[in-house]
Amino acid sequence: MIRDYEDLFSLKDKRALVTGGAQGLGLSIAEAFCAAGAVVTLADINAESVEAAAAELRREGARAYAVVCDVSSEEQVAAAVASAAEQMGGLDIMVANAGVSTRAPAEEMTLDQWNRVIDIDLKGVFLCDREAGRYMLSHGGGSIINMSSIIGIVGNTTGNSNYAAAKGGVSSMTKVMAVEWAQRGIRVNAIAPAQTATKLIEGLMRDNPATRTYFEQHIPMGRLGKPCEIASAAVFLAADASSFVTGQTIAVDGGVTIAF
Ligand SMILES: NC(=O)c1ccc[n+]([C@@H]2O[C@H](COP(=O)([O-])OP(=O)(O)OC[C@H]3O[C@@H](n4cnc5c(N)ncnc54)[C@H](O)[C@@H]3O)[C@@H](O)[C@H]2O)c1
Repeated sequence: MIRDYEDLFSLKDKRALVTGGAQGLGLSIAEAFCAAGAVVTLADINAESVEAAAAELRREGARAYAVVCDVSSEEQVAAAVASAAEQMGGLDIMVANAGVSTRAPAEEMTLDQWNRVIDIDLKGVFLCDREAGRYMLSHGGGSIINMSSIIGIVGNTTGNSNYAAAKGGVSSMTKVMAVEWAQRGIRVNAIAPAQTATKLIEGLMRDNPATRTYFEQHIPMGRLGKPCEIASAAVFLAADASSFVTGQTIAVDGGVTIAF
């Protein structure tokens, strides 16, 4: 019946925490969640910009809060999940999106460069998932969405050994958590975007126009992703539309991962 499909993509009154939510993909995901009816808490290490982003969402009529959190800190993640759940009245959706990259050829990569990316992009995702999972296990379940990358799937990149290890780790960890929690009401999935035109990437391409050409040549669709195209995959994974989907890394990549 048509009616069976009416609310599949709705996030009405669902409560979502989005890390790295002050800008870029995290903020786009939060905007899409608000459009689908959710209340959101943005978590970010950058206090000024996360407060400003939540205030802007509220100005647009959304229900949005901000919390300052470094996802690589066990204590700060625990506090952020607790405060988000308290201010929203619960937690149904966790998006572990915060991530950084520092590039260097493997032979030149310092341990600091390695550790920074692993700490934020892999350990940070584990801490967020573990804390949200603990909450959801005792509060009726939920949906967890981790931010991976095509760099965690394909090897067609250089200078990214730290980032590839972290993102590949995110996708592997996603499968294990999905199995562990499959019968306890929590789904865990990941999104693997190709290069997406966030402010950061746009800046990179402005500074070095050859980067745009490189990206466009390596993406079968011949263009970068748009933040809203990543955000709509997150809405799918958060909503009942994906109720039989768990442990997956969904590539949203204009065809990159099928072309090599
Ligand atoms: N933009 C792309 O093309 C692309 C492609 C594939 C994957 N990704 C992944 O998507 C995620 C978001 O990327 P983006 O392009 O929006 O990046 P971005 O740099 O625009 O935003 C990242 C946000 O994370 C925050 N952050 C950084 N370190 C943090 C920490 N320790 N704790 C909490 N917050 C922290 C930053 O302050 C920022 O607001 C990242 O995990 C990234 O690896 C992005």
